Amino acid sequence: MLVIRNIGQVCTGPRGPVSLDRPDLVMRHYNAAIAIDSGKILWIKDHYDEPLPGGAQVIDAQGGCVIPGLIDCHTHTVFVGTREAEFVQRIEGRSYAEIAEAGGGIRNSVQGIRTTGLEELVELALPRLRRMLAWGVTTVEIKSGYGLNVESELKMLRAIKALGTRQPIECVGTYLAAHTVPAEYQDQADVYLDDILAYDVLERIKNEGLAEFADVFCERTAFTVEQSRRVLEACKRFHMTPRVHADQITQMGASKLAAEVGAISADHLEEIDAESLAALKQAGVVAVLLPACSLFLGVPQAPARKIIEAGVPVAIATDFNPGSCAIESLPLTLSVACTQMRMTPEQVLVAATSNAAAVLQREDRLGALEQGMQADLAILDVPSIEQMCYFAGRNCVREVIKAGEAVYRV
Ligand code: NIG
Ligand code: FE
Repeated sequence: MLVIRNIGQVCTGPRGPVSLDRPDLVMRHYNAAIAIDSGKILWIKDHYDEPLPGGAQVIDAQGGCVIPGLIDCHTHTVFVGTREAEFVQRIEGRSYAEIAEAGGGIRNSVQGIRTTGLEELVELALPRLRRMLAWGVTTVEIKSGYGLNVESELKMLRAIKALGTRQPIECVGTYLAAHTVPAEYQDQADVYLDDILAYDVLERIKNEGLAEFADVFCERTAFTVEQSRRVLEACKRFHMTPRVHADQITQMGASKLAAEVGAISADHLEEIDAESLAALKQAGVVAVLLPACSLFLGVPQAPARKIIEAGVPVAIATDFNPGSCAIESLPLTLSVACTQMRMTPEQVLVAATSNAAAVLQREDRLGALEQGMQADLAILDVPSIEQMCYFAGRNCVREVIKAGEAVYRV
């Protein structure tokens, strides 16, 4: 048994998905201790002042705050090469869409993936995951989408799967071959879709257990609503749960599509309208907001407060990728959500734990600290989540526990 004692405050949301528009969103245990056995939480006790159970291994939290391990439910962490030239072009006044329409953007990341071996893809991503772990992240979703042909997309998914076995963070794979139309299929998007949705390809993904989710970039620079529907319906037949990059640049009905196909999430939503919001609410789709992406692109944020007031559960993720968001820190992203979207520290905590776990369909095991849940948690060197969000950009994580094992310590 492992006991974490001398915890100033345990802060946890309920099991997700949960609307952030409710009182008592975060449960707090003061001067607490947490006991862990067989990788799971055995108990959490307030005002704990008893002698420790004999034989228990002990961690002293030194009065710090304990939160559930953070869950980054939307990233593109496997990539080769950086795109700072586009970063500079945007500073000079070009938009993300203009760069993409001129043949740049996602297409600038394709050659690197195609010419790099699987093992090297893993090696390139490992330090990124190490840094994420140090920020308190214990589960991360990673999308394919820079290979843009069958073999390179499968290679990316295999790299994501391998990453899960090579370091402590649990990695969840998403098939995003429909990220954009590759240059060699210019004006033949449907032929490209024939390739990536071929029966044997989807069957390989299923048989090798390579992707739990399918995603599509439904946008004027990528795929239409009808093409996106085709992608998601095809992948659904092979047990991949749909997600959608929706309403990021153009309002073209992408989040309504997410609602229609029963997607678990609609992600981005910078350009969401009232009708789409009602559709998400009605269909029980989680809104995944990516405030670090808007910060990085210098564009307006998604209307988080409106989405929350509509009763749609909100999750927050980094969207870490080499183009639209080179920010890999989820805690910094949460501080951005506080100051730029006016979400409270309680709301952002639940968005990156309970609701992010629900997006990844792991809410029975992850995202909340309560008896029987997996012991994934971060011990902070500050006494509260308010102070964590306030120290934007400073790493307040002192120690990380994954499934009951101490996996990181400052
Ligand atoms: O979520 N929007 C589409 N995909 C990524 C960007 C990928 C890239 O530019 O490399 C995103 O922002
Ligand atoms: Fe993304």
